[in-house]
Amino acid sequence: MAHEVRAVVARAAKDPVAVAVIEVPDPGPGETLVRVQACGVCHTDLHYREGAIGQDFPFLLGHEAAGVVEAVGEGVQEVGPGDFVILNWRAVCGRCRSCRRGRPQYCFDTFNATQKMTLDGQPLSPALGIGAFAELTLVAAGQCTKVRADVRPEVAGLLGCGVMAGIGAALYTGEVQRGDSVAVFGCGGVGDAAIAGAVLAGATTVIGVDLDAKKLDWARQMGATHTVLVSDGDPVEAIRALTDGHGADVCIEAVGHPVVFEQAFNARDLAGTLVQVGVPSPEMRLDLPFQEMFGRGGRIKPSWYGDCLPSRDFPMLVDLHLQGRLPLDRFVSETIDLDQVEEAFAKMGRGEVLRSVVVL
Ligand SMILES: NC(=O)c1ccc[n+]([C@@H]2O[C@H](COP(=O)([O-])OP(=O)(O)OC[C@H]3O[C@@H](n4cnc5c(N)ncnc54)[C@H](O)[C@@H]3O)[C@@H](O)[C@H]2O)c1
Ligand SMILES: [Zn+2]
Ligand SMILES: [Zn+2]
Repeated sequence: MAHEVRAVVARAAKDPVAVAVIEVPDPGPGETLVRVQACGVCHTDLHYREGAIGQDFPFLLGHEAAGVVEAVGEGVQEVGPGDFVILNWRAVCGRCRSCRRGRPQYCFDTFNATQKMTLDGQPLSPALGIGAFAELTLVAAGQCTKVRADVRPEVAGLLGCGVMAGIGAALYTGEVQRGDSVAVFGCGGVGDAAIAGAVLAGATTVIGVDLDAKKLDWARQMGATHTVLVSDGDPVEAIRALTDGHGADVCIEAVGHPVVFEQAFNARDLAGTLVQVGVPSPEMRLDLPFQEMFGRGGRIKPSWYGDCLPSRDFPMLVDLHLQGRLPLDRFVSETIDLDQVEEAFAKMGRGEVLRSVVVL
């Protein structure tokens, strides 16, 4: 039996998103039906609605979510009805060449629900294989990670994408160590999470860089020891000045722009690490001095989902949060209804929020 539920759909590139009634099938083998309780508005949702991540409209948006398992399909053992779960967009296969070599965080064959959710019979493309701006969503069982139920859903859900991507960019991709200096370019939800991750890892100099002074206030609340307002001058020079003239050990690009990438590239110390978290658009190109790339040494590492393993990281980060060691609640700027997602995109564009979270 298909369930008819309210959901946020992007029908065409750049058109405002709107709530529609969609059809969600009962779970088939390996699938799970989840009653969504909260779902954050991530910049990636906006990338979808702009047509920057493929043209497979209509998209069912939303992917930073937590909720309760409503029903499971045949063969599902990981979770059962009533479990409180955070949804993840990289259900690890366990069989691909990366998984077989013990690197499931890079799994090359992650999977989603097999059946399609539909809008008037037309298949929907769920954002990042989730689609959680919806009262019910259908995912692969491996996309559900059970966590303790005493954490607020609007906080827990954020671990499902941007916050995990940022924390993991610092902890795992950047391998930030105690005593490191870290510069984070772009202090939105993802960048601020990278700041929180750098603090968790023991970095002693944590520099937030943004165009917007309000974002820098929030970055300091998240643990940045210094901030750099881009309009005050060259951020590369500012970062050098804050690191004894050397540059940062780890630079994290959390904007998705070639100019920012170049700044992050140049703001590194010798043998430093550049982590690319921001998602570029298809037309973007990089033009870097090849000799500088060699001469500086170090590492340039794109980061998918913070190289996380949801089963390892979600419960651990929830624990750290509930112990008062990770201020996840500071990411929730406002809670909104399903029909306010378009408005939330505008607020994101104006820099008024870190995360708007739809609460259902
Ligand atoms: N790699 C991943 O797994 C992953 C996961 C989630 C999101 N993302 C991507 O991360 C990026 C950030 O997402 P978000 O949700 O934090 O977005 P956001 O819009 O909340 O934050 C972006 C921030 O960058 C700042 N900014 C813009 N231009 C800048 C510049 N030239 N210099 C310095 N700062 C600048 C903005 O003021 C804003 O504070 C997006 O591209 C998103 O798609 C990647
Ligand atoms: Zn795999
Ligand atoms: Zn996201």
